[in-house]
Amino acid sequence: MTPEFGGEFGGEFGGEFGQDFDGGAAEDWDSPVSAHAEPGERDDESSLRPKSLSEFVGQPRVREQLELVLKGATGRGAPPDHVLLSGPPGLGKTSLAMIIAAELGRPIRITSGPALERAGDLAAMLSNLAEGEVMFIDEIHRIARPAEEMLYLAMEDFRVDVVVGKGPGATSIPLEIAPFTLVGATTRSGALTGPLRDRFGFTAHMEFYTAADLEKVIRRSAAILGVDLRPDGAAEIAGRSRGTPRIANRLLRRVRDYAEVRADGAVTLEVAKAALAVYDVDDLGLDRLDRAVLRALVGSFGGGPVGVSTLAVAVGEEPTTVEEVCEPYLVRAGMLARTPRGRVATAAAWAHLGLSAPVDAPGHGAPTLFDE
Ligand SMILES: Nc1ncnc2c1ncn2[C@@H]1O[C@H](COP(=O)(O)OP(=O)(O)O)[C@@H](O)[C@H]1O
Ligand SMILES: [Mg+2]
Repeated sequence: MTPEFGGEFGGEFGGEFGQDFDGGAAEDWDSPVSAHAEPGERDDESSLRPKSLSEFVGQPRVREQLELVLKGATGRGAPPDHVLLSGPPGLGKTSLAMIIAAELGRPIRITSGPALERAGDLAAMLSNLAEGEVMFIDEIHRIARPAEEMLYLAMEDFRVDVVVGKGPGATSIPLEIAPFTLVGATTRSGALTGPLRDRFGFTAHMEFYTAADLEKVIRRSAAILGVDLRPDGAAEIAGRSRGTPRIANRLLRRVRDYAEVRADGAVTLEVAKAALAVYDVDDLGLDRLDRAVLRALVGSFGGGPVGVSTLAVAVGEEPTTVEEVCEPYLVRAGMLARTPRGRVATAAAWAHLGLSAPVDAPGHGAPTLFDE
C-alpha cells in the first residue's frame, strides 16, 4: 500500500507560482501597460517587493485590517485566520502574502491553483507544514476540484483524508496536519466556490492605487534602483500607470533606459514624456491597441453602438483580445460603455482623441460638481 502522494514539496513546488499560466488573452498580451508580469520581469519584481507592512504603500484599509488580524493572532499565540487576497493583477497580492509570513516570522510555502492538479500534491504540501507556517496558493480560483475539497477539511479542522490503495480495497486515512495559515490570492473572487470563500476568516479587497500612492511606489523603486528621479518625472509616470504598481515599476524601468541612453540619466518630466512616447503609452496610460479601438469606434462607427466582434475586425484583433485586454481599462477610464446594443464611446473618448462629441454620446454635457 502506497499513499497516492509522494515527494518533497520544497523543490517541486517552490518556483511554480512564477510561471505563466494560460489564463486568457490578457495574460499573453505584450504591452508596456499590461498588468501581468512579463517572463523576464520576475527578478526585477522581487528586488522591488516591499518586505513589511510599513513598507507597503497605499491600500490603507487593507493594511489596517491586516495589521489587526496579525497582531491579534500573535497576541493569542495562535496562527491567524486564513486570508484571501482579492483584486486585479499587479496590485500587490503576492507581495502581501510574503509580508504576512514575514510579519509572523514564519516561512512561506508557495504554490498555485493550476499547480495543484492532483489532491495528492496538496496533501504532500499540507502534511509537510510545520505549526504556524504560511501556505500561499496563488490563483486559487483555478484549483482542481479534488484538491479544493481536500482544502475544506484542512482549513477547518487541520486534517486531510488520504486515500490509500485503489479500487474496492481503497481506504481513507485521516491525517492530522499542523495548524497553519492559508493565504489565497485571486484575480476573480467571483469564480471561487461558496464553500471555499466561506472558509477564509478575512478577505482583503485590493483597490487600484491613487496617483499619489503610485508616486510613492515609483520614488521607493527609484531609490532601490539608484535612479535619479525628479518629482515631475515621478508624477508623469504615475499618471500613466493605470492605478497599478506593477505597471508603474515597469514604466520607471523603461524611462530609466531612455534617460541613460538618450539623456544624462535624470528622469525629468521631459525625459518621461519622450520615453513614454517611444513606448506608445499616452498620457492616460492607453497603449496603441487601446487607441486603435477608440479610433475605430469613433471614426468608423460614429461612436457606436457596435458589436465587439465588428470592432475587433476593424482593429485586426480577436474579439477576446479586445474584450479582455482593452475593454476593462477603457471602461474603468470612463471612455467606453458596454450596452445591450453594443459598445459606445463616451464623451471622454471623443475628447481624448481631440474630437468634439455628438450630443447623444454618454457623458456629453454631464453636469460637473460646480454646475448650478
Ligand atoms: N503596495 C505596494 N508598495 C510598493 N510596491 C508594490 C506594492 N504593490 C505592488 N508593488 C510592486 O508591484 C509588483 C507587483 O506586485 P505583486 O505583489 O506581484 O502583485 P500581484 O500579485 O497582485 O499581481 C511588485 O514587484 C512590487 O514591487
Ligand atoms: Mg501575484
